[in-house]
Amino acid sequence: MNDWVGGADPELAGDFSAEILLSHIPVATGTRLLDFGCGIGRVALSVLRRKPELTALTGIDIVPRMVTFCRDKIGENFANANFELLSDKNDHYERYERSASDSPRSREDLGATYAGTFDGAYAFSVFTHIDIDDFVSLLRFVGTLLKPGGYFLFTAFALTPFSRSQLASGRTNPVFKKLHFEQNNSVFIGAPKDRLAFIAYDLNRIEAMIWEAGLIPTGIEYGQWRSDQMSRTYQDVFVCRRPLDASPRA
Ligand SMILES: C[S@@+](CC[C@H](N)C(=O)[O-])C[C@H]1O[C@@H](n2cnc3c(N)ncnc32)[C@H](O)[C@@H]1O
Repeated sequence: MNDWVGGADPELAGDFSAEILLSHIPVATGTRLLDFGCGIGRVALSVLRRKPELTALTGIDIVPRMVTFCRDKIGENFANANFELLSDKNDHYERYERSASDSPRSREDLGATYAGTFDGAYAFSVFTHIDIDDFVSLLRFVGTLLKPGGYFLFTAFALTPFSRSQLASGRTNPVFKKLHFEQNNSVFIGAPKDRLAFIAYDLNRIEAMIWEAGLIPTGIEYGQWRSDQMSRTYQDVFVCRRPLDASPRA
């Protein structure tokens, strides 16, 4: 299953992401964290080890085998960790099928349990696999689970003047031989046959989608996929907050 989430050394990848997360989001005694699209729990495990004072860490994913793995391997060893199976669909992850015995919960159902409860949420390598028609609603869903003022860190691939230039000159990591853009060049599809394997959005569009989802963009850390040789993260990191005095807009 490690290949399903990127294939690198899972402990190293988890530690690396946890380092980035903890440099952007405050985590202290009493904090409740959401790992959205937790996969096999690479990041969750590292965060739980580094921050035993966490009150709760909840992982959510759509692939039953990965959620079961997290429950067995992490949930059994950390009393403050639990994992939920969400009933969403994602074309890139449809090959990891469900069985009749799985009991996924809908967004509404999970919302009834967790709305407004998390101080912070993160989603590593999730929105790099989310299509145009679902991006805002998924951001909004995570936003509704945050407390007012809560933090959300997610990674994405942002099309900027620099990353567009690197794409055009074949200097990104990975290199794309054919460049496939959609919607007035605001969306880039890395592999049209598996369009959610790598999807990038124009930076302004990402900021607009964050705001449309009822969140406030507060920071960006650019990543090494653009091959600048100076970034500490691979994907671009976006940090946003739920407004203090408003619920996410419907
Ligand atoms: C590349 S993996 C990354 C896993 C984990 N965040 C990590 O960094 O190790 C992407 C994950 O996003 C999950 N995912 C995709 N669409 C999702 C959705 N709509 N809701 C929740 N998880 C989703 C996939 O099942 C997969 O586990």
